[in-house]
Formats: sequence, structure tokens, C-alpha cells
Amino acid sequence: MKKKLLSVLLTGAMAASMFVGCGTSTATTDNAGADTAATTTDDAGGSTAAGGTKVGVSMPTKDLQRWNQDGANMQKELEAAGYEVDLQYASNDVQTQVSQIENMINSGSNVLVIAAIEGSSLGEAMDMAKEKNIPVIAYDRLIMNSDAVSYYATFDNYKVGQVQGQYIIDQLDLDNTDKTFTMEITAGDPGDNNAGFFYDGAMDLLKPYIEKGTIEVKSGQVDFADVATAAWATETAQSRMENILSSKYANDDLNICLCSNDSTALGVENALAANYKGEYPIVTGQDCDIENTKNMIAGKQSMSVFKDTRTLASQVVKMVGQILNGEKVDVNDEKTYDNGKGVVPSFLCEPVFADKDNYKELLIDSGYYTEDQLK
Ligand code: BGC
Repeated sequence: MKKKLLSVLLTGAMAASMFVGCGTSTATTDNAGADTAATTTDDAGGSTAAGGTKVGVSMPTKDLQRWNQDGANMQKELEAAGYEVDLQYASNDVQTQVSQIENMINSGSNVLVIAAIEGSSLGEAMDMAKEKNIPVIAYDRLIMNSDAVSYYATFDNYKVGQVQGQYIIDQLDLDNTDKTFTMEITAGDPGDNNAGFFYDGAMDLLKPYIEKGTIEVKSGQVDFADVATAAWATETAQSRMENILSSKYANDDLNICLCSNDSTALGVENALAANYKGEYPIVTGQDCDIENTKNMIAGKQSMSVFKDTRTLASQVVKMVGQILNGEKVDVNDEKTYDNGKGVVPSFLCEPVFADKDNYKELLIDSGYYTEDQLK
């Protein structure tokens, strides 16, 4: 019986990963734009293959393109592998996410996959999962201060920052210059454990140039706490940058905008469009969101880090199958991600550099976007 289940699961998982490899469309399946529950019921015999096994998938918000893609990919792949899926979005509201997870537990989810809004605020729901022996996979963002987290699947977050930092060093040839370049930093949400990794990855490379005077941050805002953006909000990044531009760059060029992700980069790009007359700076980002990729093509954003959500979804589906079958779970990092209760065994996917020269191959040829989506 178990063998049969395993083979069905593996076939499903293989089919799902082949599907992904063929570059299926990842258009978001946002229904009516609402950020509320979209409980997915099992159709076409899905529950029979994996024996009525239910996977609860908790995503932070529908406001950002990537989470819609993550949710849709997970749902498609988990269903293809024969699971019933309960997919919920929490409107970036911690209490909503906690109640949704509690509902998933009460309605019989066998495994939980959670992308936390705030890594440290899921305590109660995690205790409940632990009590009921429900394994939890932290998705993309680590869940902090809980020993209920079984595994973590994400991209190499430190490397994301390093790719951004190295891009700046290479573009301006910082090792062979006696010029001084101005830079402003826009980082992510302090409640998201990833944000610190992105910032550290980039700043570990760039700080030596600040110390040497090759880079100058005119606002004086360098520490993470001073450059963080609550909830990764575009508007917050925009208004902060508008202030900095009018107070520090009315008569001077701003050469570099290190932005941790695309939603903050978009805010910075809006501020530049509204308030800045100097030479256009290098702007970094992450996610290859559609708006940002369009800006990249138009020369308003220099690069983004591409994290193929299809890869992460496939990895998590594989982990779910391995957990449910009592197999060894595929991890490739057992030292980096300590959530305060111990190191969580992790699988880190590779982030890739994207710019206007390679976006076609990465994003269109691979089927991530259609050409029309980027027009
Ligand atoms: C993710 C990024 C995303 C950010 C904002 C982070 O946890 O890793 O890909 O841009 O959250 O949603």
C-alpha cells in the first residue's frame, strides 16, 4: 500500500516537475482581486491518489505579484501530485494568517507550508501544529522562535544580496577608480528574516567601499534599521526616497540605489521620476516582477534577481512527499538558518542575475512570462 502510494506520489511529482520544466504559464490565478480565502477543493480525483492527504498553504498577501505566483504554482503542483490543497492569502495581516493556519489545522491538514508575514508572530499557531504533530515547512521566509518548524525551503537569500552588491561593483569598476559615487540604500521589512540576509549579502561587499570613500551615502542612513521598509511597501520606499532626493540630491547626482527587492525598487523609481533631474542611477531589485521587468527594458531599473518560483514550488512539493512517506528529506544547508530554537534544515535554491540583456532567455524562453505580459 505504502509502496503504491509512494509510486503514485513520485509519478505525480515527476509529472509536476516535467510540467514545470516545460515552462508552464504562471499567470496569477487571483480571483476577483480579493485577498481573502480561496479554499481550493480537490477536483478530478485528486484526493484518491495521495489518499485524501491535505496540504495547507498559507501565503502572506495577494498584493505582491510573486506570492500569487508562488501560491498558484504550489497549488498546481500539489494537486498534480494528488493532494488536496487549502490555499489561503492573509492580506498581510498577522492575525488573519494565524487564524487561517489554525483553521487549516482544525480542518485536517496533514502538512503545512507557510510563508510568514512576520516570522516571529506565529507562535500560537505553531504550538497548535506541534501538539497535533503536523509537520511545518517554512516557505521562502523562516518562521522564528519555534521548534515546530520541520524544514525550510527558500532561495539563497544572502546570495541574492551578494549578486546585487557585486553588480554595483562591476558596473562602476569600483576597484579601479578614484572617483566617489553616491549611493542610497533601501532595504526590506524588519519583520521578515530574509530582509537582513539580503542587506548583509550586499553590504558585506559594499561597506569596504564606503569605508574607503569610494561610495558616499549622503543621507547618512546606512544601518539596516535606518533603511528598512515596513511591509516592503512601495509607497513607503517612494516617500522616503522623495525626501532624500529633495534634501540631498537637488544639486548632486545620485549614482547608486541599492534596493533589496522589486517592490521597494518601484518606489525608488517613482521617486526618481517625480523628483530627480540628475543622471539616472544604477537601481537594483529582486523578483523580476512584471512592472520592474518593464522598467528594466525601458532603462529605469538596471537589474533584478530572478528567483524562479516554479523551482521553489517543485522543491516544496518534493519535500511534502518525502515527509509524508517517511523518507529522507532533501536539504542542502544545515547551518545557515537558526530560528532562535535551533538550526532548521533547509533547501536553498539558486537565485540568478537578470538584466535587459538576458531577460528574454530567462523569463520568456523559459515560459515564465509571455512577451505580451512585458509590453
Ligand atoms: C521575499 C522576496 C520578496 C519580499 C517581499 C521576501 O521575503 O524573499 O522575494 O520580494 O519578501 O514580499
